[in-house]
This record gives sequence, structure tokens and C-alpha cells, in this order.
Amino acid sequence: MDDPAFETPSLDLNTQTILLHASNHDLEALKPLLRIPGNASVQDPETGMTPLHAAISACGPAAGTAGSLGEGEEGEGGEEVDIEKAKEVVKELFLAGAIWNDLDAEGETPGCVAWRLGRKELYELVVEAGVRAEMLLGLMGGYEALESGEEDEGMDIEEEEEGEEGDGVIVVRKGEGESNANADITTGEKPQEAKNEEPPKKDVNSEDYLKSALKFEDDKLLDEDANGVMMAWETDIMRRSVDLLLPDLKPGARILNIGFGMGIIDRMFRATSPLSHHIIEAHPAVLSKIKEEGSDFGAAWEASAPEGGKYVVHSGRWQEIVPKLLEAGEVFDAIYFDTFGEDYTQLKLFFSEYVVGLLSPEGRFGFFNGLGADRRVCYDVYCKVVELDLCDAGMDVEFTDVPVDLEGMGLGKDGEGEWKGVRRRYFAVDLYRLPICTFMG
Ligand SMILES: C[S@@+](CC[C@H](N)C(=O)[O-])C[C@H]1O[C@@H](n2cnc3c(N)ncnc32)[C@H](O)[C@@H]1O
Repeated sequence: MDDPAFETPSLDLNTQTILLHASNHDLEALKPLLRIPGNASVQDPETGMTPLHAAISACGPAAGTAGSLGEGEEGEGGEEVDIEKAKEVVKELFLAGAIWNDLDAEGETPGCVAWRLGRKELYELVVEAGVRAEMLLGLMGGYEALESGEEDEGMDIEEEEEGEEGDGVIVVRKGEGESNANADITTGEKPQEAKNEEPPKKDVNSEDYLKSALKFEDDKLLDEDANGVMMAWETDIMRRSVDLLLPDLKPGARILNIGFGMGIIDRMFRATSPLSHHIIEAHPAVLSKIKEEGSDFGAAWEASAPEGGKYVVHSGRWQEIVPKLLEAGEVFDAIYFDTFGEDYTQLKLFFSEYVVGLLSPEGRFGFFNGLGADRRVCYDVYCKVVELDLCDAGMDVEFTDVPVDLEGMGLGKDGEGEWKGVRRRYFAVDLYRLPICTFMG
């Protein structure tokens, strides 16, 4: 059939039929259609709705849900919906290749919809599928797509299998936009993205970042594209991290911190009177700030190390400095890792290859856990992914939930409150899962 006038309606009919069966939770009608490759992830061209969105949103809000799976708001299942049937449909869709993180026109993934409606069981199914997909992508080298640009966002798994750059990038901290949610799989554009009038996205990568000019403000450090490198609202997270990395804040510890930023965590480490305190920092502007007169980490600090210890700022990328520390036989009781402009491959490389040689047997390792934190479902998926990868590297991780009062702290909306002047809200979930890692016993 060459005439597009004939093709378009039949394509639409296919999509609409699938979406209808999905929203009716009609598994029998859906199953034969799902045998055809691609059908599990069709998208309505107007609404961006996929069969997963349809199956989940048709459930409506769970009883007693005020809009999300907040505390005490267990999705109990509305009387009118047979949630078991919905679960079967969602499971079948995943078996048939449905994509867990496609965005609809409202910018929601199926998991976002389940969360908003308080449908906990469906939400968990999406998270499980997300973890499976991301682990698979990692195995296939999907995370290697370091320099993914906007055009990459729409790639589907098949394209990635062919070795092209794709959506396998996990946002660790700031910078990249919603790289952890899929755009439209055919065009690479987010459906109706213009609706939200977002600033055009510019990819952040380590090389460009380390060359960029920085803006130091009292409460934030920005790169030249106004991406938030570090912000003062994270002070409580840094405080809790130090408290958990150094139980009882015992003096005399050997500490390694990677990424100085605003020096928030280093000031806290410094206050514990460590035996050794090594800082690795790569950005020339941050390094100049550290060397400025009156800095807390200048020559006077370096000279103040107790006997047998060492206080030092290493200038350079951790990728170059860390092998030298290993060679020198340095060992640490607490290691913290918090860089900017790097993706998950680098964090994973650090804990898989280097922590084993740098951390004392009873030592503790932590990192800024911003993995996918611009979206709740992605955050939950990537917390599990990192847990599995840490396990693979021989480490146990314990997450401590730190509430983040988004509204109270002025973090609720893009471009407002704390985010004023910051290009993108990189943290949009109301709890921070603080990881403390130790060697498996
Ligand atoms: C988010 S800030 C760290 C904030 C810090 N935790 C604090 O409490 O202020 C990230 C820092 O890592 C630095 N950085 C980025 N890539 C790096 C690399 N490869 N090696 C060392 N430092 C790096 C950045 O220049 C920046 O100063």
C-alpha cells in the first residue's frame, strides 16, 4: 500500500486499538496484537500515551490518595478497578518490550502516572522493569554513551544495540536534562515539549565543564550555562553524610574527598581534626579559589597536618590523581565522591576499580546520590541499579532516607526560589537516599 492516505489511518487504528485494549485491561484482546514487534510501545501522536500509560491511568486514583504515593497513602485499589487485571496487562506489556520510561505529552513516564495516582503495585512493576532494562543497558555498554546529545534521547533499545549513542546515560549530578526519561522513540523529540517552554537543553560533559567559567555566589556555584554545580541547600545532606561516614565524628581519621565545589563537606571534615585530609579537585577556577588568601584550605591548612598525617589539595581530575594515591599506598577511613559533569560510568568505575584499594577494611565510602533525581521513578530505579552494581563490586550499601522539604526550602518549582537563575532543577524528589557503603563482611 503506497498511498499514505491508506497507511496513516491503519497505523492510527492499530495504535488506538492497542491503547483501547490496554486501558480496558483486556488481556485476551491485547495478547495477539503484542506479538507484533513494536506494538507494546506504540504512542498516540497527540497525547504521547503508550499502552503502559493507558493501562495505568485507566485505574484512576487509588482510594485515599491525594495525588501521590506519599507516606501512609498506600494504593489500595479503587472499587471500580480490578487492579489484578491491570497488573497482568502491565506485566504482559513489559514482556512484549514496552519501554518503562517513555514520556507522554504531559512529560510523565508510566511510573510517574502510577505514582501520581497512588497505584503502588503498578509503580513497583514499573520500577522493577526499569531496573531490568537499565542493568541490561549497562551490560550492553549503554552507559558508555557519555557524550549523548539531545538527538540521542529518542533512540530505542534496538538502535542502541547497534552500538549507537543512546539513552543509557544516568544523570549522577546536575547538568544533563531528562536523559533518564525517553523522548518520543521515532522522532527523538519530546511530544509537545514546546508546551513547557523549557530553555533549549545543552549537554553537560566533563571536558566542556572543566574549561567553562564558573560563577561563585553565596549560596551556589554555577557553570557558564547556569547549571548548578553545587548549592547551599545541600548542606544538610553533606552534614548527614559526614555524620554517617565518620561515626561519632572521631578525630584522627584518614579522609579522601573528591570534588571540592563550595567546600561545604570539606569544612565539615576539617572540623573533625582528621589525621589526613586529601581533596581532589579538577576545575582551575575552584582551585584558584582554594588558593586565595584567607581560604580555609590554603598553605596554612596544608602545613597544619598532625605528625604522621597529611593535608593536601590535589589539582587534577580524580582519574589521574587516584592511581597515584594507590601507588603511594594511601589508605582512607572515609571516602566521599561528588563530582560534576560526569555520568554514572565514572562513579561506577571509581567504586568498582579504585575503592577496593583506597578504603581501609572497616572504612566507609559515600557519594552524592543524585542518580536520576529529577524524577521519582528514575530515582527509585537507579538507587536499585547502583545497589546491584555496588554488590557486584563487593560492597554493601545502606541507604538512609533524608527528607528534602522541597516546598519549605524553596525547591518546589523550576526557576523559582532556590532554583532562580539555575538552568535546571536537578533534584525534584522529596527524599534523598543517602548511601553509605562498606565492604561485604
Ligand atoms: C558538586 S561539587 C562538590 C561539592 C562538595 N561536595 C561540597 O560540599 O561543596 C563537584 C566538584 O567536583 C569537581 N570535579 C568535577 N569533575 C572532577 C574530576 N574528574 N576530578 C576532580 N574533581 C572534579 C568540580 O569542579 C566541582 O568542584
